[in-house]
Amino acid sequence: MKNQIRYGKLKYVSFILLDLIALIGANVLAAHIYLDPNYKRYDFQDYSSIILYMAAIDLLVTTVFNTLDRVYRRSVRKEVIASGKHIVISFVLLAVVLFTTKAGADYSRVTVYLAYAFYFVFLVALHLCWKYLLKACSGKHDRPTALLMTTDRFVDEGLEELNKLNIDVRNIYLLKNLNKDAVNGIPTVRTWEEAAAVICWKWIDKVYIYGLDHQMVPGFLIKACKDMKLNFDLVDFNYRVIDVTTIQNEDPKYGALSFLEGKRDIPFPIRRVYWITETEADLHRGFHAHKLNCQLLYCPYGKIDIILDDGQQKTTVTLDKPGKGLILMPGLWREMVWQQSGSVLCVLASEYYDAQEYIRNYDEFIEYNKKYREGADSLKQTEKGFHS
Ligand code: TYD
Repeated sequence: MKNQIRYGKLKYVSFILLDLIALIGANVLAAHIYLDPNYKRYDFQDYSSIILYMAAIDLLVTTVFNTLDRVYRRSVRKEVIASGKHIVISFVLLAVVLFTTKAGADYSRVTVYLAYAFYFVFLVALHLCWKYLLKACSGKHDRPTALLMTTDRFVDEGLEELNKLNIDVRNIYLLKNLNKDAVNGIPTVRTWEEAAAVICWKWIDKVYIYGLDHQMVPGFLIKACKDMKLNFDLVDFNYRVIDVTTIQNEDPKYGALSFLEGKRDIPFPIRRVYWITETEADLHRGFHAHKLNCQLLYCPYGKIDIILDDGQQKTTVTLDKPGKGLILMPGLWREMVWQQSGSVLCVLASEYYDAQEYIRNYDEFIEYNKKYREGADSLKQTEKGFHS
């Protein structure tokens, strides 16, 4: 991972150096071709101090306004816009500096205008050529390189899922919450920003976002993928049975302690917690699906069957110990059957209570799911169309 970042930084610095070369070249050309009204050609030496101002402003604009943002991946249009922005800001700053220091009195304004015009052309052309060269040198990958983003809890399942897609796991990077450099020998990234940097600087064919609530995927990352014409896939799931860490004391009189940690264990933000108590055996509850709400269910005491229905098939998960949890994504019809009186059902939910967000009619659920599936498929189609 560290190497990736270093590699990325090296490329970034190469673009900064390229910009400085372009700036000097543009000034040399401007000084060379501009003749004043007396047909006198300015000596390039006359401009050396102004070029120093320009170079200092250039570095400032690059760092403060981040004008080299995703330079390696951005399209020609984005390149032109970013370079244009860079030139305009630099020009305005230079004008302010020259005006306030009166340092510009001895210089020909036309030469400065010309220098910036050439600089703009050089900047775009050199960036495009340099990117082409870098990409050509990095060569074609015989295996796809992908970035897998997932939470700690789903790392192994995510890898397993991707293996089914015949993706070389050695080239997959993970977004993790744990402070580890590698998982299963695969380097990790820990923040969205780092993930975006890896996408930028390393050749990534596809981004897989696995098992995360879509709302947790920041818009800027999705936008970055789109901007970079990068294919991304939400490798989604309907439900997952998870192990809840449980500490059993050697002396049974101390009982057992189970815990769940936000983000690490729960792939959605928790906005609501509720529990169902004072129950009788054979109680049936539920009979609804959610449009938005993600949930984590667990039963700290007793035994409860959770019958899940995705509109096509049914599954039953039995929650019968505090160390077992069930994550449910939206779009699942559920029925809860109490197998033992007094069993307690606890629920962590991603949404505040909102009756509108429930589907309580089964036919409506089937209709909704059909539409959702079609919508999801067509969304994927659109993404594929966009990226191909
Ligand atoms: P309901 O969702 O019908 O329970 P279940 O599906 O498990 O049988 O909820 C019963 C009542 O409780 C219903 O009137 C709505 C209310 N309620 C809240 O006000 N806030 C909540 O967070 C929940 C879960 C329910």
